[in-house]
Amino acid sequence: MLKKFKTDLAAANAVCDRVETLLSVKKDALICIAGGDTPLQTMQELVRRSKTGQIDFREAYFVGLDEWVGLGLETPGSCRATLFSQLFDKLIGLKKEHICFFDGKAEDLAEECDRIDQFVDKRGGIDFILLGIGMNGHLGFNEPGVQIDLNAHVVELDSVTKQVMSKYFEKDLPLTQGISLGMKQILASKEIVVLATGTKKAEIIQLTVETEPTPQIPATFMKKAKNAQFFVDEAAGSLV
Ligand code: PGA
Repeated sequence: MLKKFKTDLAAANAVCDRVETLLSVKKDALICIAGGDTPLQTMQELVRRSKTGQIDFREAYFVGLDEWVGLGLETPGSCRATLFSQLFDKLIGLKKEHICFFDGKAEDLAEECDRIDQFVDKRGGIDFILLGIGMNGHLGFNEPGVQIDLNAHVVELDSVTKQVMSKYFEKDLPLTQGISLGMKQILASKEIVVLATGTKKAEIIQLTVETEPTPQIPATFMKKAKNAQFFVDEAAGSLV
């Protein structure tokens, strides 16, 4: 359930190995890669492997994990800006119509959730999902108090998420909501990796590992998923 790697780079490489293996057997797999800081190294390595031809993304599909309500591509730090600039725009041969990403500026957010749900359903669910873990144990914007039977939905941001979010943006933004894949879709993914790196994640990793599944720590529900693993570097895994 928990795999420790010497460095964050080794953990990122291991994630990329999973993606490589998956796409070698299922070229049109549906993949979801979280935004945030943690997956950035993984994205870099996926791009490198794409450029060398080691991974072929030409038939691959991607779905977004989440987005800040009100934000779009023009805001550096939005999930869309991160995923497109760091990953999608750089993968060789990836078809734009194979990407379905939350529009945080959609007028009708319920319709936007339906659009995402339908895309996931049409592909038969998510084949591989890479998640980060929030300082409060959230996954995507599945915040403490989460309902686990939901698909894509709009969420009120938790106070911890609001404290942490300024690290992503050049200036303070008055964000209160997120839009996110739900735990139902996440738990149904065929393969799940939760990646955590750095000392600041050590406590939440310890708490997650030591606590029975509870809505107060959404990441604990990974224990109910058949194919979920935590990949941590030595720093994030230092208390377990
Ligand atoms: P981080 O965010 O990768 O920027 O630490 C993780 C998360 O909040 O899910």
